[in-house]
Amino acid sequence: MRRLLVTGGAGFIGSNFIRHWLSAHPDSSVLNYDVLTYAANLANLADVEARFGDRYQFVQGDIANLELARHLLRWFRPDAIVNFAAESHNSRAVVDPQSFFRTNVLGTQSLLEAARTVGIRFHHISTCEVFGDLPLDSPQRFDEDSPLRPRTPYNASKAAADLAVRAYAETFRLPVTISVCCNNYGPYQFPEKLIPTFAIHALEGRPLPLYRNSDHRREWLHVLDHCRAVEAILLRGTPGRTYNVGSGVEVSVEEMADTVLGILDADPGLKTYVPDRPGHDRRYLLDSTRLRTELGWRPLVAWEQGIRETVLWYRDHPDWWRPLLARLAVDESAWETAVEGGSERSLFTAR
Ligand SMILES: NC(=O)c1ccc[n+]([C@@H]2O[C@H](COP(=O)([O-])OP(=O)(O)OC[C@H]3O[C@@H](n4cnc5c(N)ncnc54)[C@H](O)[C@@H]3O)[C@@H](O)[C@H]2O)c1
Repeated sequence: MRRLLVTGGAGFIGSNFIRHWLSAHPDSSVLNYDVLTYAANLANLADVEARFGDRYQFVQGDIANLELARHLLRWFRPDAIVNFAAESHNSRAVVDPQSFFRTNVLGTQSLLEAARTVGIRFHHISTCEVFGDLPLDSPQRFDEDSPLRPRTPYNASKAAADLAVRAYAETFRLPVTISVCCNNYGPYQFPEKLIPTFAIHALEGRPLPLYRNSDHRREWLHVLDHCRAVEAILLRGTPGRTYNVGSGVEVSVEEMADTVLGILDADPGLKTYVPDRPGHDRRYLLDSTRLRTELGWRPLVAWEQGIRETVLWYRDHPDWWRPLLARLAVDESAWETAVEGGSERSLFTAR
């Protein structure tokens, strides 16, 4: 597999993936196809352009543009499409759900349609959030056959995209694979997400906004381990299959805040409690036995080392994140709680 068309490659995971793929496969080339939303940042790839020359190319475009996608497939002749492109922030999806369904569902379907005309391998990046949430005390994990029970517009749009991908496999025999990954952390993550938010607020001495239900947990995987999982699936995965990608490392929001504050030696009093976002999931945990046993994948980055390096990366790269702060659109401390019929409901007060 020498030529990849990577969508959303100017975002967090896509840019890490392009760097990883070009480093690991010296005879390969990548075309990055990204519309450049607020979450994109070509600075994520400045070193890639310098290091890999014309093995890396960039086209600005929308995955929902079928004509452009078809043209790129004819011109670049990739061996596979890897679809990272998405609207990816749950909080934004509460405020503007439509853009999520447009890109994540219709955009993915359009790309599938382009892929179908040439019968190309299609790898789709999904999220553990499509399964809905688990009770905090449950011994259960989601496996690849767990029912899709999304609870937020972002999660529903990703679940719908997964179904579109599966439908193209069944109906048109398109050789697809899907990876369903837990929460990623690492360098180049847009500052609206939890870890960069906590790190940047701690560095600037500003309050860290923790949802009141700060015992809610997430499973965390270093972004390079996610990239290695996608690589393994592209090279050795069985078309038609879905693979869960999980670390087994669960961390609560409270523990995450304490960890970030500890690494930066910042004031624990910066923790402040704000109402939860509507539909704030309690917990996700993946069973990634299939990926581990069939493809021999396992995470290589230990949590303690990975989170320390990540937080220190944000400390050492203010020139990377400072210009991005002007693009933040959701104030995480502006959710409000209303009591209706005896039960609590969360709302958002738009700025
Ligand atoms: N971040 C996580 O923890 C996580 C976990 C599991 C799965 N995922 C999935 O991984 C993928 C990448 O996530 P991320 O965190 O890197 O997201 P991101 O928001 O950092 O990057 C998304 C990229 O997609 C591009 N994009 C958006 N709409 C587009 C369109 N219509 N056409 C072309 N490009 C478009 C953006 O410009 C941006 O560069 C997403 O599909 C997301 O659902 C993310």
